[in-house]
Amino acid sequence: MTGYSVEDLHRASAAGVRAPSLHNSQPWRFRLTGGAIEILADPSRSVPVVDHDGWATRIACGAATYNARLALAAAGRPATVRLHPSPGVIARLALLGLRPPTEAERELYAAIPRRHSNRGPFWPDPVPSGIRARLIAAAGDEGGWLDLLVGTTALTGFAEIARSADRVLRRDSAYQQALASLREAVPIAAGAPLPEPSDLLPQRLFNDRRRADGQDYEPEPLIGIVGSPGDLPVDQTVAGQALQRVLLTAVAAGLETSMISQPIEVPAARGQLRRSLGRSGFPQIVVRFGYGTPGVPTPRREPAEVVRDFGPGTAGSDGPAGTEGAGAESEA
Ligand SMILES: Cc1cc2nc3c(=O)[nH]c(=O)nc-3n(C[C@H](O)[C@H](O)[C@H](O)COP(=O)(O)O)c2cc1C
Repeated sequence: MTGYSVEDLHRASAAGVRAPSLHNSQPWRFRLTGGAIEILADPSRSVPVVDHDGWATRIACGAATYNARLALAAAGRPATVRLHPSPGVIARLALLGLRPPTEAERELYAAIPRRHSNRGPFWPDPVPSGIRARLIAAAGDEGGWLDLLVGTTALTGFAEIARSADRVLRRDSAYQQALASLREAVPIAAGAPLPEPSDLLPQRLFNDRRRADGQDYEPEPLIGIVGSPGDLPVDQTVAGQALQRVLLTAVAAGLETSMISQPIEVPAARGQLRRSLGRSGFPQIVVRFGYGTPGVPTPRREPAEVVRDFGPGTAGSDGPAGTEGAGAESEA
């Protein structure tokens, strides 16, 4: 089997850029080379004060990898995937063969443009157990895990950890300065309304919009922690893929989602969260699920800025980009 067509590779990169990223930093590049696509970390987009060890870059690039894989599989041309094949390269997707897409692949691919972080209040309607089971399976299918918090004790315990992590970050002036420089990356309409003292969970401040009267947050949010068995760079890339599959599974099931990462960013809080879950593995990101009015899109960089096409010949190179880690291969 030869390589992917140019159309396939552009379809994959167009899906990749729709992935979520910390404060919409979009820390990726796409290299189209020798009929394959490589997803690279873009060090010029990382914000070291906020993402000092590259965790957020790998979660975002892992999510972009999942989208790119899905785009290729949904076109009937699934990829063989090598994670961290060389320094700076997060993943390399090469043509595996031809097979018709599954119904699930079609559904999840169609959900990519409908997935937007929705930081507003959700309706109080509970998420049915069948959908919860699908979310958990989605993470597992990608080699990660999803723990959904059950009961008031688990929820209030998590909320305390998240609020205290948020307080730590708010007291960190360098962090706050870096955050302020990224504020415009998220449009006002996509930000959460200003917090109220009664709010259970912390929110990032992307604007100073007050919430409408009576628009309180759902009293019992459904919170899920996405994690990975290990905490090496490649495990974080795996967690990013698992995150994206969970988010798209949620959207395909009619749910809205938002992400919370303060309790991952503060090491002491992450340790507390890990112990509170009472399971092996490492929490990598937190997701809030619920029903609500659809969220709004957040802009992305133009393809010309992030995609480099080296043509169908031998592998091109525009230099490594600073992500280490051992290789891992799988088929998707
Ligand atoms: C590693 C990571 C951490 C994130 N942390 C938060 C967070 O703490 N609060 C939040 O509102 N959104 C968080 N997000 C979501 C991003 O802000 C969001 O993906 C980005 O602004 C693009 O918008 P979109 O998700 O609507 O496409 C996070 C995303 C990633 C990948």
